[in-house]
Amino acid sequence: MKLKTLLKGSVVLAASLFVAGVVSATTFKVAIGDAAGGTQHELGKAFAASLNKKTDGNVKVDLFPNSQLGDEQDTVNDAAMGLLDFSILAINNVTPFSPSVAVLTLPYVIQSAEEAKQLTLGEVGKELTENTIRDAGVRIVGWSYSGFRVLTNSKRPVKTLADLKGLVIRVPRNELMIATYNSWGLNPSPLAWTETFTALQQQVADGQDNPYITISAMKFEEVQKYVTNIRYLFSLEPLVVSESIFQQQTPELQQAILDAGMEATEHSYAYLAETENRIKDELVAAGMEISDPADDEKEWIEAATAKVWPAFYDAIGGKERLDKILASLGR
Ligand code: MLT
Repeated sequence: MKLKTLLKGSVVLAASLFVAGVVSATTFKVAIGDAAGGTQHELGKAFAASLNKKTDGNVKVDLFPNSQLGDEQDTVNDAAMGLLDFSILAINNVTPFSPSVAVLTLPYVIQSAEEAKQLTLGEVGKELTENTIRDAGVRIVGWSYSGFRVLTNSKRPVKTLADLKGLVIRVPRNELMIATYNSWGLNPSPLAWTETFTALQQQVADGQDNPYITISAMKFEEVQKYVTNIRYLFSLEPLVVSESIFQQQTPELQQAILDAGMEATEHSYAYLAETENRIKDELVAAGMEISDPADDEKEWIEAATAKVWPAFYDAIGGKERLDKILASLGR
């Protein structure tokens, strides 16, 4: 064999040994709250492919959609205790463990997908990542941009707050969302995500809110008829890793996880833009009726911002923090 070929071969061998040495064969588990086909699953698939590629196939990522590994809020506890590697869940199910995250779920703060991206990938996102590590024992390594949560119900078209009266609306166990419905004159029913479909099917609850892509992934069109395009909450669904498990990894694998999380985040942003309108059309074809709130949602916005924002200033780190965020968005 020629010397050049021999040398080339040994460089390749050394490189692969190096990779195998720092990133030994590992399989991570990722809990996913929603059913396959939603934005959470899409983020998970992109993350799994990217991490596998970055580690030359040494790291495998197994996805468990449809809350197979537990309800979303339970997966935060499990990851914090090092019993679960990763979870992808709605941000409103992280807030109970890390209250400052509520700044991204205050009603009507985020008004577009662009603003959601700007905040999550900027200073605010960095700060929230530090806070969730401190408060909840999990690190945010990626974001799914899932679109605005729209209101669905099985009883009637809803355009005004008066139309909403008397409906039983399911919400996650999230104080901020409960307070928002209170500001609209309703006492919503907090219920775990895993119990939501059955509650709607058995008409224990008349309605709920979630983004279009989630509604479709969860087949809510089978048990809900009317949709109202409220835009109070832009749904962000972070990919979190157990901080204790993250700290057990080599620096190289930690970096690969962070990079794969960012690639998956970019994928999620593009996926929303490509998919949301098509899903909306499919839901209409399946029989759903979509309405816009009357008067550009004015009464909804005024009630929620006047009553809910001040009640959560302490939780988010003071009014100044919100003012700073609004200013960074040009408001
Ligand atoms: C919820 O309503 O609990 C969440 O939005 C569920 C989800 O989409 O993960």
